[in-house]
Formats: sequence, structure tokens, C-alpha cells
Amino acid sequence: MERLTTGIDGLDEMLGGGIPVNHAVVIAGPAGAGKTILSMQFVYTNLLKGKKCLYISAGEDPEALKANTKFFGWDVDRFIDSGDLVMMKPRLIDVVNLTSDFLEKLPHVVKRSSADLVIIDSITEFNDLCQTDIERRGRVLNLYEAIKDSGATGIMTAEASTDGDGTRYGIADYVTDGVILLRRLQSRDLSELLHVVQISKMRWIEHSREIRQYEVTDQGIKVHSKYSVIFSE
Ligand SMILES: Nc1ncnc2c1ncn2[C@@H]1O[C@H](COP(=O)(O)OP(=O)(O)OP(=O)(O)O)[C@@H](O)[C@H]1O
Ligand SMILES: [Mg+2]
Repeated sequence: MERLTTGIDGLDEMLGGGIPVNHAVVIAGPAGAGKTILSMQFVYTNLLKGKKCLYISAGEDPEALKANTKFFGWDVDRFIDSGDLVMMKPRLIDVVNLTSDFLEKLPHVVKRSSADLVIIDSITEFNDLCQTDIERRGRVLNLYEAIKDSGATGIMTAEASTDGDGTRYGIADYVTDGVILLRRLQSRDLSELLHVVQISKMRWIEHSREIRQYEVTDQGIKVHSKYSVIFSE
């Protein structure tokens, strides 16, 4: 199975080489865990390898995102100019009529895209607009199929559930091909909260079940090696 590097060595190692091409994968985590940074790292690394990317930012303004990720040395302007990166901020709701066509439009945009990588940051806004769990399941499945049909590899970020075991709505976890969980754990001496990553699901491949610590550094996310400080004496 062909793989796409995530741009993060430790995570690629956990995945046995990267994310399988044409998988649609969820990255779930609490606020500020680094879901957007991880997505941009994935995008930037693959842009450098000649891939085309579509980044749908339902939360943050793409201009701010672009400017802030320059801090990590990821200057995406030239890829926007060349057309290899398309960044979009959809209108979630018409504030006058309180109506939304986001739920209908998103699968079409994804399906028509010729990108190798599609990022939806985040799918929580999409879920928030659905009225019932039945609608939510149907729409997430429809979106999943749009990614698969487009031939792209998809990353959907998502807010975590309260227990941190998956996504808040708990639907994308079942529908998609993989779930990468970002969590926070208290350090052994209780002095700080550590970030940890684990792959809770990745269809059709052998992957690590380890819980590894990671950090957000000035070069992006770095996942620690196997025997991490969290479990040492
Ligand atoms: N330059 C930096 N150096 C170290 N850590 C940083 C730096 N910039 C951001 N961070 C960390 O990354 C976090 C933000 O990452 P990011 O925006 O990717 O999170 P997120 O999971 O997408 O959050 P949200 O749920 O709000 O969208 C900050 O809370 C901070 O801890
Ligand atoms: Mg974010």
C-alpha cells in the first residue's frame, strides 16, 4: 500500500511508513492539541514533494493560518501562486437567514477536487450543523465517500470527546479509515501536562499501538522515540 509521509518522523514510524494513499483519517484532540499544526505539516511536506492540496479551514481564517505557520518555516505562498495549494474558508451559515448550504456543498467541492490531499479542519463544524445523529451519520458517510471517490488522501481534524477516546460526536471514528488521537496526560511528578499521540485505528495496515509523547517545537510537531519519558521512573 502506497504511503504519504506525515512530515513527522515519529508518527510515520508509528504508521509503518505514513498514511496509506486514499485513506480518509481523523485526527481527534482537545483544543490546542496541535491538530491544525499537524495538518499543515502534512500539507507542507507533501507540497514539497510535488503533491496538490486542498485545505478547507472551517474555523481559522486561511490568511492568519498561512501567516502563523511561517513561524515554523512553512511558507506556502508560492504553492498558492502555482495553484498546488488551494485554501478555502467556507461560509458555515448565512447570518441573515440563518440557513446553511455548507453540508450540501462540502462533499461536492471535495469530489470535484483534483488534489492529492484534502484537509477538512475541522469536521466538528460540519457535525454541529446536523440536526440528528441519523443525519450526521449519513452526511459524514457521504463526505467520506466523496474523499474516496476523488482519489485523494483525506485528513479531518475533530474535537475530542470528553473522555478523550475519540471524536465528540463519535461518528467519524467508525466511518473513516483511521483515527489518530491526540491527548493530554499529567506527568508522573504532576508538574505538567504532556501531549501524547496514539493511533487507535488504521484500516488494513499494521500500526503501532504505543502511546508516544510529542511536542510542538519551532519546527513543528516532533513525536518522541519509543521509550518515552512519561513511563520512565
Ligand atoms: N511556536 C510554538 N511553539 C511551541 N508551541 C506552539 C507554538 N505555536 C503553537 N504552539 C502550541 O500549539 C497549540 C496550537 O496548535 P493548533 O492550533 O494546531 O491546535 P488545534 O488542536 O488545532 O486547536 P483548536 O482545537 O483550537 O483548533 C498552542 O496551544 C500551543 O500549545
Ligand atoms: Mg485547529
